[in-house]
Amino acid sequence: LSHLGPQTSSAGGVYRQMSSASTGPNLKVAVLGAAGGIGQPLALLLKASPLISELSLYDIVGTEGVGADLSHIDSSPKVSSFTGAEKLPEALYGSSLVVIPAGVPRKPGMTRDDLFNINAGIVRDLCAAIAKYCPEAWVAIISNPVNSTVPIAAEVFKKAGMYNPRKLLGVTKLDVLRANTFVADAIGVPPERVSVPVIGGHAGITILPLFSQATPRVDVSPETAKALTERIQDAGTEVVKAKAGKGSATLSMAYAAAKFAESCLRAIAGESVVECAYVESHLTELPFFASRVRLNRNGIEEYLPLGRFNDLETANFEALKGELRGSIKKGVDFISKA
Ligand code: NAD
Ligand code: LMR
Repeated sequence: LSHLGPQTSSAGGVYRQMSSASTGPNLKVAVLGAAGGIGQPLALLLKASPLISELSLYDIVGTEGVGADLSHIDSSPKVSSFTGAEKLPEALYGSSLVVIPAGVPRKPGMTRDDLFNINAGIVRDLCAAIAKYCPEAWVAIISNPVNSTVPIAAEVFKKAGMYNPRKLLGVTKLDVLRANTFVADAIGVPPERVSVPVIGGHAGITILPLFSQATPRVDVSPETAKALTERIQDAGTEVVKAKAGKGSATLSMAYAAAKFAESCLRAIAGESVVECAYVESHLTELPFFASRVRLNRNGIEEYLPLGRFNDLETANFEALKGELRGSIKKGVDFISKA
């Protein structure tokens, strides 16, 4: 995806340039919430993937229009559209990867946790259907609050007796893109050359960029490191404010999710791929934690060690634990105490 540019003319051609695989392994990918602000541009980017044989679009409203539009693009994935809960089984059946951007976004003044009351039930119901109709699929959750919706999905899958923690991934890739972008700007290198691990969770202070483990080396003052960290932590709010009531990040999120989905598909196809994701984890005392994970065809193959923190990172790591623990418990309780 990093080579998307004006010199390219055909969507299939673009994707072949940006993907290391030239022929696809025929995978079905379902997008739940496909008619939304993230869902539409995400579906557009996925329509250009040679790794996908069927792109299954599902929403509670408006899916057919999005599907008809995308189906005219001259790239291989076949587009199918499904609207309404009675069509969900067909949308899911046979999927290798399910990406979930379904749910309401923030308005100015709201926290991601303010979305819990609506989005928790949406994620619960969609995951119950996944457990029934494509229990082997990888599941990538975008719907906020991610810190709670991923534990909700895990509890639903446990209840259904098919939970595989290695295939349940909370999407935190946008935090990584933001960290790369802001750091690149600060140190004066092209963003494509920067790689900053971001760990913890996906809300405010739970988002923890690790400049000490970035490439290239990030040599900035402690003040600059603190300011950069805060900008990355508040970047979602920056977009919510700029959109002034018209939602949150959609285009950058779709780009992040498409890159993340491509990594999952390459892993399913047999490659070894490293991504940051919010997953069930034993790296810390917190039961869910975002870190770098190595993916292979079976899901998470390895949880990469967190490495040594500098002083700022140590303080931020200590500071995030209380909030993240609370968000995880809230998600678990939503299912287990229902
Ligand atoms: P949106 O309102 O534009 O789109 C959401 C879509 O979900 C709508 O089309 C809606 O019809 C659909 N939907 C609602 N209930 C559904 C259900 N039960 N089944 C299927 N579809 C359903 O919102 P958006 O801007 O696309 O954001 C979606 C979610 O993604 C929000 O919760 C937002 O906070 C989150 N988000 C997460 C990240 C991240 O980094 N993880 C980044 C941006 C946004
Ligand atoms: C983001 O980080 O942009 C998303 O989580 C959306 C939001 O509410 O900020």
